[in-house]
Amino acid sequence: MMLSKKMTQAINDQIGYEFYSAYLYLAMSAHFETQNLKGFAAWMREKFAEEQTHAMKFFDYVNDRGNKVELPALPQPSGKWPSHLAVFEQSLEHEQSVTARIHKLYELALAEKDYATQSMLKWFIDEQVEEEKTVTEVIEQLKLIDSRGTAVLVLDHRLGKSAEK
Ligand code: FEO
Repeated sequence: MMLSKKMTQAINDQIGYEFYSAYLYLAMSAHFETQNLKGFAAWMREKFAEEQTHAMKFFDYVNDRGNKVELPALPQPSGKWPSHLAVFEQSLEHEQSVTARIHKLYELALAEKDYATQSMLKWFIDEQVEEEKTVTEVIEQLKLIDSRGTAVLVLDHRLGKSAEK
């Protein structure tokens, strides 16, 4: 059974939002490259890759249901942040907006009694819990350390390692 027109539109919008997420993390990665924080940059680059897989999961799903993917335009992401903390805080804010959007999609799937879409979205609902948790941990750690201290380099090294996994 094909997706409703409304659901197709909503998922196509979400494909765009996931690609925008990727683009935002790529901008954050570029920002950390200029600061010579290679670990932070690698971590953001890993998020960039992850967001593309999210977009493609939705892309494949629309195709699998026999509907047509239509890609929306992407806004330009911000490129400058006043502190390391500000970058991660924007990342958390962004993930919270993604979570809200996924929940809205799920509500639409419930309203339409579209069980297959509900099932597909469950992966994203769980993923968002993980995404918010991971970035919150980095924010908490950054708050504990002086922004110019050697501890930043320790965290940079640790995030770099975690991006390699
Ligand atoms: Fe695709 Fe970070 O949510």
